Amino acid sequence: MTKKIAVLPGDGIGQEIIREALKVLDCLRQIFSVEVETEEALVGGAAYDATGTPLPQETLNLVKEADAVLLGAVGGPRWESLDYSVRPERGLLGLRSELSLFANLRPAILYPQLAEASTLRPEVVAGLDILIVRELTGGIYFGKPRGVRTLDNGERVGLNTLVYSESEIRRIVQVAFETAMKRGRRLCSVDKANVLECTELWREVVVETGRDYPEVELSHMYVDNAAMQLVRAPKQFDVMVTTNMFGDILSDCAAMLTGSIGMLPSASLDEHSKGMYEPIHGSAPDIAGKNIANPLATILSLAMLFRYSFNDAATAARIEQAVNAALDSGVRTADIYSEGSRKVSTSEMGDAVVEALRASA
Ligand code: IPM
Ligand code: MG
Repeated sequence: MTKKIAVLPGDGIGQEIIREALKVLDCLRQIFSVEVETEEALVGGAAYDATGTPLPQETLNLVKEADAVLLGAVGGPRWESLDYSVRPERGLLGLRSELSLFANLRPAILYPQLAEASTLRPEVVAGLDILIVRELTGGIYFGKPRGVRTLDNGERVGLNTLVYSESEIRRIVQVAFETAMKRGRRLCSVDKANVLECTELWREVVVETGRDYPEVELSHMYVDNAAMQLVRAPKQFDVMVTTNMFGDILSDCAAMLTGSIGMLPSASLDEHSKGMYEPIHGSAPDIAGKNIANPLATILSLAMLFRYSFNDAATAARIEQAVNAALDSGVRTADIYSEGSRKVSTSEMGDAVVEALRASA
Protein backbone atom coordinates (compact mmCIF):
# COMPACT_ATOMS: atom_id res chain seq x y z
CA MET A 1 0.00 0.00 0.00
CA THR A 2 1.21 3.49 -0.79
CA LYS A 3 2.47 5.24 2.32
CA LYS A 4 1.81 8.87 2.96
CA ILE A 5 4.27 11.46 4.22
CA ALA A 6 2.98 14.75 5.60
CA VAL A 7 5.46 17.40 4.52
CA LEU A 8 5.73 20.55 6.64
CA PRO A 9 8.39 22.92 5.29
CA GLY A 10 7.76 25.61 7.93
CA ASP A 11 9.81 28.79 7.95
CA GLY A 12 13.15 30.27 6.91
CA ILE A 13 15.42 27.77 5.21
CA GLY A 14 12.74 25.13 5.85
CA GLN A 15 11.30 25.66 2.36
CA GLU A 16 14.67 25.32 0.64
CA ILE A 17 15.92 22.23 2.44
CA ILE A 18 12.61 20.38 2.15
CA ARG A 19 12.59 21.05 -1.59
CA GLU A 20 15.86 19.11 -1.87
CA ALA A 21 14.59 16.21 0.23
CA LEU A 22 11.53 16.04 -2.04
CA LYS A 23 13.81 15.86 -5.09
CA VAL A 24 15.46 12.85 -3.51
CA LEU A 25 12.06 11.32 -2.81
CA ASP A 26 10.97 11.90 -6.43
CA CYS A 27 14.06 10.11 -7.63
CA LEU A 28 13.34 7.17 -5.32
CA ARG A 29 9.83 6.98 -6.75
CA GLN A 30 10.93 7.18 -10.37
CA ILE A 31 13.97 4.96 -10.32
CA PHE A 32 13.49 2.64 -7.40
CA SER A 33 9.69 2.34 -7.52
CA VAL A 34 9.33 3.44 -3.91
CA GLU A 35 5.61 3.88 -3.30
CA VAL A 36 5.12 7.03 -1.32
CA GLU A 37 2.81 9.98 -1.66
CA THR A 38 3.21 13.36 -0.03
CA GLU A 39 0.92 16.13 1.09
CA GLU A 40 2.11 19.54 2.27
CA ALA A 41 0.73 21.59 5.11
CA LEU A 42 1.56 24.73 7.04
CA VAL A 43 3.27 24.94 10.41
CA GLY A 44 5.07 27.60 12.42
CA GLY A 45 5.22 31.24 11.38
CA ALA A 46 3.97 30.46 7.88
CA ALA A 47 0.87 28.87 9.41
CA TYR A 48 0.42 31.76 11.81
CA ASP A 49 0.53 34.28 8.95
CA ALA A 50 -2.02 32.33 6.94
CA THR A 51 -4.39 31.17 9.68
CA GLY A 52 -3.57 32.94 12.96
CA THR A 53 -2.23 29.79 14.62
CA PRO A 54 1.15 28.03 14.28
CA LEU A 55 -0.55 24.62 14.26
CA PRO A 56 -3.82 24.71 12.30
CA GLN A 57 -6.37 21.94 12.77
CA GLU A 58 -5.95 21.02 9.09
CA THR A 59 -2.26 20.33 9.67
CA LEU A 60 -3.02 18.29 12.77
CA ASN A 61 -5.56 16.21 10.86
CA LEU A 62 -3.03 15.57 8.11
CA VAL A 63 -0.17 14.52 10.40
CA LYS A 64 -2.45 12.20 12.34
CA GLU A 65 -3.68 10.51 9.20
CA ALA A 66 -0.24 10.30 7.51
CA ASP A 67 2.23 7.45 8.11
CA ALA A 68 5.10 9.81 8.86
CA VAL A 69 5.95 13.51 8.97
CA LEU A 70 8.88 15.32 7.37
CA LEU A 71 9.49 18.78 8.81
CA GLY A 72 11.84 21.61 7.79
CA ALA A 73 12.19 24.19 10.54
CA VAL A 74 10.12 26.82 12.31
CA GLY A 75 10.60 30.31 13.70
CA GLY A 76 12.18 33.61 12.84
CA PRO A 77 12.60 37.18 14.06
CA ARG A 78 9.33 38.25 12.39
CA TRP A 79 7.35 36.29 14.96
CA GLU A 80 9.48 36.88 18.05
CA SER A 81 7.26 39.56 19.50
CA LEU A 82 4.15 37.38 19.36
CA ASP A 83 2.58 35.94 22.48
CA TYR A 84 4.11 32.60 23.47
CA SER A 85 0.89 30.75 22.75
CA VAL A 86 1.10 31.51 19.02
CA ARG A 87 4.88 31.53 18.48
CA PRO A 88 6.08 29.31 15.62
CA GLU A 89 7.90 27.09 18.16
CA ARG A 90 4.55 26.29 19.77
CA GLY A 91 3.59 24.68 16.47
CA LEU A 92 6.55 22.32 16.66
CA LEU A 93 6.07 21.56 20.36
CA GLY A 94 2.36 21.02 19.69
CA LEU A 95 3.15 18.46 16.99
CA ARG A 96 5.54 16.60 19.27
CA SER A 97 3.05 16.56 22.07
CA GLU A 98 -0.13 15.85 20.02
CA LEU A 99 1.57 12.90 18.34
CA SER A 100 3.16 11.69 21.61
CA LEU A 101 6.61 11.73 20.02
CA PHE A 102 8.47 11.18 23.27
CA ALA A 103 11.61 9.55 21.85
CA ASN A 104 13.94 11.83 19.94
CA LEU A 105 16.91 10.13 18.31
CA ARG A 106 19.73 12.43 17.28
CA PRO A 107 22.69 10.66 15.71
CA ALA A 108 25.95 12.59 15.45
CA ILE A 109 28.14 10.91 12.89
CA LEU A 110 31.29 12.36 11.45
CA TYR A 111 31.59 11.67 7.76
CA PRO A 112 35.31 11.05 7.22
CA GLN A 113 35.24 13.47 4.29
CA LEU A 114 34.35 16.26 6.75
CA ALA A 115 37.04 15.71 9.37
CA GLU A 116 38.59 19.00 8.27
CA ALA A 117 35.30 20.88 8.67
CA SER A 118 35.04 20.27 12.41
CA THR A 119 36.39 22.94 14.71
CA LEU A 120 37.98 20.12 16.73
CA ARG A 121 41.19 18.40 15.75
CA PRO A 122 40.61 15.53 13.29
CA GLU A 123 42.01 12.91 15.70
CA VAL A 124 39.48 13.94 18.36
CA VAL A 125 36.49 13.45 16.06
CA ALA A 126 37.60 10.90 13.44
CA GLY A 127 35.21 7.96 13.42
CA LEU A 128 32.73 9.69 15.72
CA ASP A 129 29.36 7.91 15.96
CA ILE A 130 27.18 9.01 18.88
CA LEU A 131 23.46 8.73 19.36
CA ILE A 132 21.70 11.14 21.67
CA VAL A 133 18.31 9.92 22.89
CA ARG A 134 16.41 13.00 24.05
CA GLU A 135 13.11 12.89 25.93
CA LEU A 136 10.81 15.10 23.87
CA THR A 137 7.35 15.51 25.35
CA GLY A 138 8.03 16.22 29.02
CA GLY A 139 10.37 18.01 31.35
CA ILE A 140 10.73 21.75 31.63
CA TYR A 141 9.49 22.31 28.07
CA PHE A 142 5.99 21.23 29.08
CA GLY A 143 5.91 21.40 32.89
CA LYS A 144 3.30 23.44 34.69
CA PRO A 145 3.00 25.92 36.28
CA ARG A 146 4.68 28.15 33.74
CA GLY A 147 4.53 31.75 32.64
CA VAL A 148 5.42 35.27 33.62
CA ARG A 149 3.39 36.77 36.46
CA THR A 150 3.31 40.01 38.35
CA LEU A 151 3.55 39.75 42.12
CA ASP A 152 1.53 41.93 44.49
CA ASN A 153 4.54 44.21 44.91
CA GLY A 154 4.53 44.79 41.16
CA GLU A 155 7.64 42.74 40.41
CA ARG A 156 7.46 40.25 37.56
CA VAL A 157 8.58 36.64 37.99
CA GLY A 158 9.18 34.09 35.27
CA LEU A 159 8.43 30.47 36.05
CA ASN A 160 8.93 27.07 34.41
CA THR A 161 8.66 23.68 36.01
CA LEU A 162 10.90 20.66 35.57
CA VAL A 163 8.71 17.63 36.12
CA TYR A 164 9.02 13.97 35.11
CA SER A 165 6.87 11.05 36.17
CA GLU A 166 8.45 7.64 36.63
CA SER A 167 6.63 6.23 33.62
CA GLU A 168 7.80 9.09 31.40
CA ILE A 169 11.38 8.41 32.42
CA ARG A 170 11.07 4.65 32.08
CA ARG A 171 9.74 4.65 28.52
CA ILE A 172 12.49 6.91 27.15
CA VAL A 173 15.17 5.04 29.06
CA GLN A 174 13.88 1.75 27.65
CA VAL A 175 14.19 3.15 24.13
CA ALA A 176 17.76 4.15 24.97
CA PHE A 177 18.69 0.70 26.31
CA GLU A 178 17.06 -1.03 23.33
CA THR A 179 18.97 1.24 20.97
CA ALA A 180 22.22 0.66 22.85
CA MET A 181 21.69 -3.10 22.48
CA LYS A 182 21.70 -2.65 18.70
CA ARG A 183 24.86 -0.53 18.78
CA GLY A 184 27.92 -0.53 21.01
CA ARG A 185 26.04 -1.55 24.18
CA ARG A 186 27.20 1.46 26.15
CA LEU A 187 24.73 3.93 27.61
CA CYS A 188 25.49 7.16 29.42
CA SER A 189 22.59 8.79 31.23
CA VAL A 190 22.97 12.53 31.68
CA ASP A 191 21.35 14.31 34.61
CA LYS A 192 21.93 16.94 37.27
CA ALA A 193 21.17 14.65 40.19
CA ASN A 194 23.53 16.57 42.49
CA VAL A 195 21.19 19.56 42.40
CA LEU A 196 17.79 18.66 40.93
CA GLU A 197 15.54 16.17 42.75
CA CYS A 198 13.65 15.53 39.53
CA THR A 199 16.78 14.15 37.91
CA GLU A 200 17.65 12.23 41.05
CA LEU A 201 14.48 10.27 40.33
CA TRP A 202 15.61 10.09 36.69
CA ARG A 203 18.85 8.41 37.80
CA GLU A 204 17.01 5.96 40.05
CA VAL A 205 14.69 4.89 37.25
CA VAL A 206 17.64 4.52 34.88
CA VAL A 207 19.37 2.20 37.35
CA GLU A 208 16.18 0.16 37.87
CA THR A 209 15.57 -0.15 34.13
CA GLY A 210 19.20 -1.10 33.60
CA ARG A 211 18.68 -4.32 35.55
CA ASP A 212 16.75 -5.63 32.53
CA TYR A 213 19.73 -4.92 30.30
CA PRO A 214 22.74 -6.49 31.97
CA GLU A 215 24.67 -6.55 28.66
CA VAL A 216 24.62 -2.78 28.46
CA GLU A 217 27.41 -0.94 30.23
CA LEU A 218 25.65 1.89 32.06
CA SER A 219 27.22 5.12 33.27
CA HIS A 220 25.90 8.40 34.65
CA MET A 221 27.20 11.89 34.09
CA TYR A 222 26.21 15.34 35.28
CA VAL A 223 25.20 17.53 32.39
CA ASP A 224 27.96 20.11 32.89
CA ASN A 225 30.59 17.40 32.75
CA ALA A 226 28.84 15.78 29.77
CA ALA A 227 29.07 19.05 27.83
CA MET A 228 32.77 19.22 28.62
CA GLN A 229 33.41 15.55 27.77
CA LEU A 230 31.61 15.96 24.44
CA VAL A 231 34.21 18.47 23.29
CA ARG A 232 37.13 16.92 25.17
CA ALA A 233 36.83 13.25 24.19
CA PRO A 234 33.56 12.64 22.34
CA LYS A 235 34.43 9.14 21.20
CA GLN A 236 33.99 7.82 24.74
CA PHE A 237 30.23 7.92 24.10
CA ASP A 238 28.01 5.44 22.31
CA VAL A 239 24.41 6.22 23.31
CA MET A 240 23.47 9.11 25.61
CA VAL A 241 20.02 9.48 27.15
CA THR A 242 18.78 12.64 28.77
CA THR A 243 15.94 15.05 29.51
CA ASN A 244 14.27 17.33 27.00
CA MET A 245 16.26 20.48 27.74
CA PHE A 246 19.63 18.85 28.37
CA GLY A 247 19.16 16.91 25.12
CA ASP A 248 18.39 20.11 23.24
CA ILE A 249 21.64 21.67 24.42
CA LEU A 250 23.91 18.62 24.16
CA SER A 251 22.72 17.76 20.66
CA ASP A 252 23.71 21.19 19.34
CA CYS A 253 27.07 20.65 20.94
CA ALA A 254 27.40 17.16 19.43
CA ALA A 255 26.38 18.56 16.05
CA MET A 256 29.41 20.81 15.86
CA LEU A 257 31.68 17.82 16.36
CA THR A 258 30.51 16.61 12.97
CA GLY A 259 31.55 19.80 11.25
CA SER A 260 28.19 21.51 11.00
CA ILE A 261 24.76 21.49 12.52
CA GLY A 262 23.63 21.26 8.90
CA MET A 263 24.55 17.56 8.93
CA LEU A 264 22.40 16.25 11.79
CA PRO A 265 19.07 14.52 11.17
CA SER A 266 16.61 13.42 13.82
CA ALA A 267 13.72 11.08 14.38
CA SER A 268 10.98 11.72 16.92
CA LEU A 269 9.03 8.56 17.60
CA ASP A 270 5.92 7.51 19.45
CA GLU A 271 5.29 4.13 21.03
CA HIS A 272 4.50 2.55 17.66
CA SER A 273 7.37 4.11 15.72
CA LYS A 274 5.13 6.58 14.01
CA GLY A 275 7.46 9.49 13.63
CA MET A 276 8.33 12.98 12.67
CA TYR A 277 11.67 13.59 11.01
CA GLU A 278 13.52 16.88 10.95
CA PRO A 279 17.00 18.33 10.84
CA ILE A 280 18.08 19.36 14.33
CA HIS A 281 18.98 22.85 13.16
CA GLY A 282 16.58 25.78 13.13
CA SER A 283 15.15 28.01 10.43
CA ALA A 284 18.35 30.09 10.08
CA PRO A 285 16.58 33.31 9.08
CA ASP A 286 19.93 35.00 8.42
CA ILE A 287 20.57 32.78 5.40
CA ALA A 288 16.98 32.01 4.38
CA GLY A 289 16.12 32.48 0.71
CA LYS A 290 19.77 32.61 -0.34
CA ASN A 291 20.04 29.02 -1.56
CA ILE A 292 23.13 28.42 0.58
CA ALA A 293 21.77 26.27 3.44
CA ASN A 294 22.91 22.68 3.79
CA PRO A 295 20.07 20.30 2.85
CA LEU A 296 21.89 17.14 3.98
CA ALA A 297 20.43 17.02 7.51
CA THR A 298 16.95 17.02 5.96
CA ILE A 299 17.87 14.43 3.33
CA LEU A 300 19.37 12.26 6.09
CA SER A 301 16.16 12.77 8.09
CA LEU A 302 14.29 11.31 5.13
CA ALA A 303 16.60 8.29 5.37
CA MET A 304 15.69 7.91 9.05
CA LEU A 305 12.02 8.11 8.07
CA PHE A 306 12.39 5.10 5.79
CA ARG A 307 14.36 3.21 8.43
CA TYR A 308 12.15 3.80 11.46
CA SER A 309 8.63 4.45 10.20
CA PHE A 310 8.57 2.46 6.96
CA ASN A 311 10.85 -0.33 8.15
CA ASP A 312 12.75 0.04 4.90
CA ALA A 313 16.41 -0.13 5.82
CA ALA A 314 17.43 -0.67 2.19
CA THR A 315 16.01 2.65 1.02
CA ALA A 316 17.45 4.38 4.08
CA ALA A 317 20.89 2.98 3.30
CA ARG A 318 20.52 3.98 -0.36
CA ILE A 319 19.91 7.61 0.63
CA GLU A 320 22.79 7.60 3.12
CA GLN A 321 25.14 6.11 0.54
CA ALA A 322 24.10 8.78 -1.95
CA VAL A 323 24.93 11.49 0.61
CA ASN A 324 28.28 9.82 1.15
CA ALA A 325 28.93 9.68 -2.58
CA ALA A 326 27.97 13.33 -3.00
CA LEU A 327 30.48 14.26 -0.30
CA ASP A 328 33.06 12.02 -1.97
CA SER A 329 32.60 13.97 -5.18
CA GLY A 330 33.89 17.03 -3.32
CA VAL A 331 30.80 19.23 -3.24
CA ARG A 332 30.26 21.26 -0.06
CA THR A 333 27.73 23.82 1.04
CA ALA A 334 29.23 26.89 2.73
CA ASP A 335 28.88 25.50 6.28
CA ILE A 336 31.07 22.46 5.53
CA TYR A 337 33.35 24.06 2.97
CA SER A 338 37.10 23.73 3.31
CA GLU A 339 40.06 24.45 1.00
CA GLY A 340 40.19 22.18 -1.99
CA SER A 341 36.49 21.28 -2.13
CA ARG A 342 33.84 22.75 -4.41
CA LYS A 343 31.41 25.19 -2.84
CA VAL A 344 27.83 24.57 -3.97
CA SER A 345 24.36 25.94 -3.31
CA THR A 346 21.49 24.21 -1.53
CA SER A 347 19.95 23.06 -4.80
CA GLU A 348 23.26 21.95 -6.27
CA MET A 349 23.87 19.80 -3.19
CA GLY A 350 20.41 18.26 -3.65
CA ASP A 351 21.24 17.63 -7.31
CA ALA A 352 24.51 15.96 -6.33
CA VAL A 353 22.67 13.56 -4.02
CA VAL A 354 20.07 12.79 -6.71
CA GLU A 355 22.83 12.20 -9.23
CA ALA A 356 24.54 9.79 -6.85
CA LEU A 357 21.24 8.00 -6.29
CA ARG A 358 20.71 7.61 -10.04
CA ALA A 359 24.25 6.33 -10.43
CA SER A 360 23.60 3.67 -7.82
CA ALA A 361 20.63 2.26 -9.75
C1 IPM B 1 15.31 21.55 18.51
C2 IPM B 1 14.93 23.01 18.52
C3 IPM B 1 13.57 23.16 19.18
C4 IPM B 1 13.71 22.67 20.60
C5 IPM B 1 12.99 24.59 19.13
C6 IPM B 1 12.91 25.13 17.73
C7 IPM B 1 11.65 24.65 19.80
O1 IPM B 1 15.92 23.75 19.14
O2 IPM B 1 14.54 20.75 17.94
O3 IPM B 1 16.37 21.21 19.04
O4 IPM B 1 14.13 23.42 21.50
O5 IPM B 1 13.39 21.51 20.85
MG1 MG C 1 17.68 22.66 19.63
